Amino acid sequence: MGAMLVLGIETSCDDTAAAVVEDAKTVRSNVIAAQDVHREFGGVVPELASRAHLDLIGPTVERALVDAAVSFDRLDGIAVTRAPGLMGSLLVGVSYAKALAAALGKPVVGVNHIEAHLLAPLLEGAEFAYPMAGAVVSGGHSELFLVDGIGRYSIVGTTRDDAVGEAFDKAAKLLGLGYPGGPVIDRLARDGDPRAIRFPRATVKRSRFDFSFSGFKTALREHVLRTSPGPDDLPDLAASIQEGLVGMLVDTTIQALEETGVERMVVSGGVAANARLRARLTEEAAAVGVEVLFPPPSLCTDNAAMIARAGRPRLARGESDTLDLGADADLPFGVPWTG
Ligand code: KG4
Ligand code: ZN
Repeated sequence: MGAMLVLGIETSCDDTAAAVVEDAKTVRSNVIAAQDVHREFGGVVPELASRAHLDLIGPTVERALVDAAVSFDRLDGIAVTRAPGLMGSLLVGVSYAKALAAALGKPVVGVNHIEAHLLAPLLEGAEFAYPMAGAVVSGGHSELFLVDGIGRYSIVGTTRDDAVGEAFDKAAKLLGLGYPGGPVIDRLARDGDPRAIRFPRATVKRSRFDFSFSGFKTALREHVLRTSPGPDDLPDLAASIQEGLVGMLVDTTIQALEETGVERMVVSGGVAANARLRARLTEEAAAVGVEVLFPPPSLCTDNAAMIARAGRPRLARGESDTLDLGADADLPFGVPWTG
């Protein structure tokens, strides 16, 4: 038998993405059509996202096959994000994937977006060793997991309010830097002093290892109102914002690593592309004996290669979802950690 080729489809938020993955770790193509319609609103507008997915899904899937030099009939199966995310957006991908599977007579499997983020490092040939810690930090998620094996996830900590990517996005919006904010702050911060401004660190009355970013947001808003920063102030401000957000994330994560006693950790999701987070967490985790795996930035942010990879084991076992497969906006993922 030849190589196994899986088409991945991802439309859970504001990126329309399709990819072809060969066997366990060869990304044959990875196409992401970012939707520009949300830029002027400083955040994702769900209605606009669904409509843009409808326009983009066909061409994006075709591009993924062309880039991979694969014909539709050569595919072994289709994996599609079915949860969690924006309902209208998820529905576009799920409906498209089911229609394509039915037309081609190929199996289709629904994939959980958070699990796909956690498994993304496998595309780089990473070796997982269990138990392992996992973090998914993105525009919609800030969750710390204990991973006991594929399919066995316990939630160690989560956010009390905003997701960390959302905090980056809101900070950037406040400074008029556009959307998404994380990459802009990351870039500006390179020329700034992370110690220029000290923002207060919120401490959550410990329910395990939870985060909260609302106090930080208030402090930033007050700082901006008080000082009316100009363009010259932006690098220091960006570096300080980044240091504050990354600091909160890293401090809590390190405490969780020490408590769970794992030796390996995976960090994924859009914020895992952040240069400062990668550097600080790698260093501070190493100091407590934990090796941290980060997918390359292109596989950290939303992409369909991770969806194909996460759906692959079920397809390889000959499983398929039926055409009843539905989208689920907030399917629970993982069980509470009782450690
Ligand atoms: O995983 P993702 O592409 O989509 C979601 O599932 O949310 O993550 C997008 C989020 C946005 O909030 C964006 O600002 C943030 O990830 N992000 C970053 C960076 N690149 C993307 N945050 C900080 N630094 C970055 N380099
Ligand atoms: Zn995501």
